[in-house]
Amino acid sequence: MYVLGIETSCDETGVAVYHRELGLLSHRLYSQVKLHAPYGGIVPELASRDHIRRLLPLIRETLNAAGLSLTRLDGIAYTAGPGLIGALLVGASVGHSLAWSLGIPVVAIHHMEGHLLAPLLDTDKLQPPFVALLISGGHTQLIQVKELGDYQVLGESVDDAVGEAFDKVAKMLGLGYPGGPELEKLARQGDPERFRFPRPMTDRPGLDFSFSGLKTFTLNTLAATRGTPQDKADIARAFQDAVADTLAIKCRRALRQTHIGKLVAAGGVCANQAIRNRLNTVAERENAELFLPRHEFCTDNGAMIAFAGSLRLSAGQRAGAAIQARARWNLEDLPPIDHRSGLPPRAGGAECCSGDAKTERKK
Ligand code: KG4
Ligand code: ZN
Repeated sequence: MYVLGIETSCDETGVAVYHRELGLLSHRLYSQVKLHAPYGGIVPELASRDHIRRLLPLIRETLNAAGLSLTRLDGIAYTAGPGLIGALLVGASVGHSLAWSLGIPVVAIHHMEGHLLAPLLDTDKLQPPFVALLISGGHTQLIQVKELGDYQVLGESVDDAVGEAFDKVAKMLGLGYPGGPELEKLARQGDPERFRFPRPMTDRPGLDFSFSGLKTFTLNTLAATRGTPQDKADIARAFQDAVADTLAIKCRRALRQTHIGKLVAAGGVCANQAIRNRLNTVAERENAELFLPRHEFCTDNGAMIAFAGSLRLSAGQRAGAAIQARARWNLEDLPPIDHRSGLPPRAGGAECCSGDAKTERKK
């Protein structure tokens, strides 16, 4: 089954073709970084317009790279949420229109499920149950994955997402957008001994996170220095270490609480090498296996959507005729993916993202 994946939830246009037996056949990404950089952040209307400009040529390019014509496709998967509503509508309407014209099924994919399943693009050794840490620009969540598609939120950020905190602190330090990768670069020159920042919400039980206080702490620390390049690098280092430690402490807690020996970490912030290393150390100490996506599949991409779509389409799930896009969407509301069935979906399965949006906090 050749599945075309379309990702347009934020500021990257991502397209990929995935085949269950043959694997990932091609993937292409168009980043809007240059478009938004002068504004210091994403301008939603510009993002939507650029997805409109880029998506069809990118689909053509991705199919060419896979050596496929449109008519060879067996299904289409698009990101239906959570994300910027105008941006989502571009991928959703193109996905539905293409599927309709080709007479093939289409499925609406949850962006964070895409992230969560991304490590599976490179390994078949990862089987549920596992604990997943999702860290992106809009989300910070610890999830217990009982079965593929069966997700329980164990904890999440009560304010800023980690990626958001990275981006805001980067801005404070005078770095460009997107801030996360720039901050990581600067932190490499920082002295780890000079400042020690708090590890928020680790002194009390629970698996929730909070990063807005850490942001304020960072701002106050910066204000108390002369703001030299070395001051900034030391602050970037202290901030990154505090985040990495906090995430690691909560992951350790989640592994112990659930008695699960497998940890997945995914989402854009997982591209951060210091965080990857810290999670690796925790996993080793807890005798747990760690699964991380390769770097290019940490941040937004079409491959993870094509992959999640391939699983859901193979399980017989299909979206109805209505185009679906939702700014907020709770991962817990997804129907499970029943690999074995390959049969038409149970009631509810077909409309895998119908119904009212519930309580997704961010993005
Ligand atoms: O998953 P993603 O591409 O988009 C969302 O779903 O939000 O994540 C983007 C976020 C941004 O906040 C970006 O600054 C952050 O991931 N990020 C990083 C790094 N690379 C991307 N944060 C820290 N270190 C990085 N190397
Ligand atoms: Zn994302």
